[in-house]
Amino acid sequence: MKAIVVSDEAAGMAGMKLVERPEPQPAINDVIVQVYASGFVPTELTWPSTWVDRQGRDKTPSIPGHELAGVVTALGYGTTGLSVGQRVFGLADWHRDGTLAEFIAMEARNLAPLPGDVDFTVGASLPISGLTAWQGLVVHGRLQAGQKIIAHGAAGAVGSMVTQLAREFGAYVIGTGRSADRQSALDFGANEFIDLDNQALEDAGEVDLVFDLIGGEIGKRSARLVRAGGTLVSVVGPSEERPANGLSIDFVVEGDRAQLGEIVQRVRDGRLRTNIGTVAPLDGAIAAFNPTTRRSGKTVIRVRP
Ligand SMILES: NC(=O)c1ccc[n+]([C@@H]2O[C@H](COP(=O)([O-])OP(=O)(O)OC[C@H]3O[C@@H](n4cnc5c(N)ncnc54)[C@H](OP(=O)(O)O)[C@@H]3O)[C@@H](O)[C@H]2O)c1
Repeated sequence: MKAIVVSDEAAGMAGMKLVERPEPQPAINDVIVQVYASGFVPTELTWPSTWVDRQGRDKTPSIPGHELAGVVTALGYGTTGLSVGQRVFGLADWHRDGTLAEFIAMEARNLAPLPGDVDFTVGASLPISGLTAWQGLVVHGRLQAGQKIIAHGAAGAVGSMVTQLAREFGAYVIGTGRSADRQSALDFGANEFIDLDNQALEDAGEVDLVFDLIGGEIGKRSARLVRAGGTLVSVVGPSEERPANGLSIDFVVEGDRAQLGEIVQRVRDGRLRTNIGTVAPLDGAIAAFNPTTRRSGKTVIRVRP
């Protein structure tokens, strides 16, 4: 099968190669999925899980990309809940080979059925950004209607999902980002927008929840804006500063079939709009991941036309 691989951590995205690889075999509780569309988070190449397995052993050449939509072609020993020929989408295990390939072996529990009226490209754009937003707001942030939140990077892949879901759940959303992203963030439903290059984050005032996907100085300053009893949720590692009288949580997104179902249902009924920037074929994936201009929205690789 055709797959994109990386072998050299120092080379980053420039080290990506399109090669022939053996087709994967399903383990217990796995399915094989023929990948129709694949999503990828650029920072994956800096995560240890791209380079080593769960025992810490070198696993290169490694196939990156961990979200997908496709069709089940085989079941592993003892696998239940999905069937051959079923349309699915989901989040592949970070430590196993990923989705920038024609086939993947992954645990069935990390996949959900993809309704027939949702395109594979849309399906592949949802798992990481949708689940991250859902888990950050609902599971870790325990968002309540009427609360005020800061959604950093509100025009980006995760931030646009955070903004839309938080509004649906009854929150007041202050989106942040670059000046060029103001309109896009407002279109995703942000009540206000703070241009981090030209405005003070502190203009937001005290909030109940910060969803941080930027970190560094912005993360530290965000912690100071969390009111007593509030929460700083980070998806870019532990915050260097904690809220004085609140919680600080950092997490890595997990596969969850029920949550994927909630997300795709919202896409179908128009409550949630995915943020796809570029769609490219597998042969054009490396160029698509190394754009010459500023990337906006998610890059989805259409593995099977
Ligand atoms: N822990 C997890 O489970 C998890 C899951 C998903 C994502 N993540 C992480 O979350 C981060 C965001 O992912 P994403 O897919 O949403 O990325 P994205 O689509 O690039 O969105 C990030 C947005 O934030 C903006 N931004 C970043 N730094 C900024 C700054 N200093 N000032 C103003 N705006 C800034 C970006 O603008 P520019 O493009 O101009 O910088 C972009 O619009 C990544 O680091 C990713 O690895 C973690």
